[in-house]
Amino acid sequence: MYAIGHILKEIREESGYPLQEVQQCVDIDLTQLCRIENGKRLPTIEQLQKLANFYNYDYKFLMVHRESDKIACSFEYPEFAIETLKVAEDKVKYGTQYLSLFQNTIYQKPISLESRRYIGSKSKLTEWIMNLIDMETENVNTFVDIFAGTASVSNQAIPKYNQVIINDILYSNNIIYKGFFKAGEWNEEKLNNIITNYNTLDPDTLEENYFSQNFGGKFYEHNIAKSIGYIRQKIEDMKSELTEKEYNILLATLIYNIDKLANTVGHFDAYIKRPIKSQPLRLRLINAQDFDNVEIYRKDANLLARELKSDLVYIDPPYNSRQYCRFYHLYETLVKWNKPKLFGVALKPVPENMSTYCTVKARDSFEDLVYNLKTKFLVVSYNNTYHSKSNSSENKIRLEEIESILKKCGKTKVFECSHRFFNTGKTEFDDHKELLFITEVDEKRKSKSFPTVLRW
Ligand SMILES: C[S@@+](CC[C@H](N)C(=O)[O-])C[C@H]1O[C@@H](n2cnc3c(N)ncnc32)[C@H](O)[C@@H]1O
Repeated sequence: MYAIGHILKEIREESGYPLQEVQQCVDIDLTQLCRIENGKRLPTIEQLQKLANFYNYDYKFLMVHRESDKIACSFEYPEFAIETLKVAEDKVKYGTQYLSLFQNTIYQKPISLESRRYIGSKSKLTEWIMNLIDMETENVNTFVDIFAGTASVSNQAIPKYNQVIINDILYSNNIIYKGFFKAGEWNEEKLNNIITNYNTLDPDTLEENYFSQNFGGKFYEHNIAKSIGYIRQKIEDMKSELTEKEYNILLATLIYNIDKLANTVGHFDAYIKRPIKSQPLRLRLINAQDFDNVEIYRKDANLLARELKSDLVYIDPPYNSRQYCRFYHLYETLVKWNKPKLFGVALKPVPENMSTYCTVKARDSFEDLVYNLKTKFLVVSYNNTYHSKSNSSENKIRLEEIESILKKCGKTKVFECSHRFFNTGKTEFDDHKELLFITEVDEKRKSKSFPTVLRW
């Protein structure tokens, strides 16, 4: 049954025309007209045009009903109709761009931990690192990833070790670890309903907010920025109706989904100065799990070192002057949501969590860290970027310094793997190497901490 017929009948009856009179004036066969009005057949475009003219009625309105009748009556699987219509709407809106814009949501699978742009991520090296650790260490129960970043190394360690401790100084990383790994209750259907709601938002109807006013048209296309700010506020407003795990999953989900929409080269030190393509924001949940062998911290590594007793500590600090809290300031602002005053072209807040590893104190910080860790094995990642031409990419700790400090801790082996590095084009890495030091800590050092030049 087509609704357009009933609409036409109502229009005719309200205008006071008998059917025969309409039939004569518009020259449509009477039986056909009856069938149209009874919803048994669709008017042709020509017939609809004639009727719209005769009743002096909005042709577009009638056409929209005719077209939607056609669509509504064409489903072979009516149980998928609503979902199909939503996808069809996006396909009509975004045309051939559809595939590239919706890459993120086309696959039903939840988003994996590795699916993130992060400077210095070891996600492509985890197999190499974990194999070496497997071969070179034994009796390891507690594994610490003390500068965890994306936690790609922790992710591989969780199924292998009895206890995994994950630490990073950034708020956003901390929320991500909790969303992906922390034990806790969550209801997937509830979360899916929440994000479906966000996915059907029309950004044109949303008001400007902190996020869009600051980052719109810069780090994100303006409408996307409006949606991000709106969703972030909604998550905060509904915090009391969410479990802690649900809250963390939603925030981590927001970060992971907006990562690929950012108008950047992968960090927020700068945005690309060119008009930004309009894109939809469609969220997909992260692959949340809960592990009871995981502990999560957000502490300065050198402070945490003094509290921990473990078997193996994996150490992958920043090695140049580029501060992670400045690279990822936008996620820090989004997670903390205290709406700080922002400064400069890149709209950064007042610095917080600046790392001594990015300063002249790097060498001493490293020494202080390894001397104060009570552990059997130290595993240190290092890449030899210190011959770089750009000052900011230059390593703050030299290879010889790392070697000599580690050798003082115990028997040290070094392993090598070539690897493509992040750089902004200024740096030449001819002899690029990713190194892994594995130190078996001397008995006398295992349980003691040692005074170093730095005070923590
Ligand atoms: C090279 S990245 C680690 C990358 C990580 N292995 C991965 O696969 O993603 C260094 C990390 O150390 C963190 N960081 C820097 N200084 C720190 C400190 N003093 N204490 C704890 N974390 C720190 C940064 O936030 C950054 O995420």
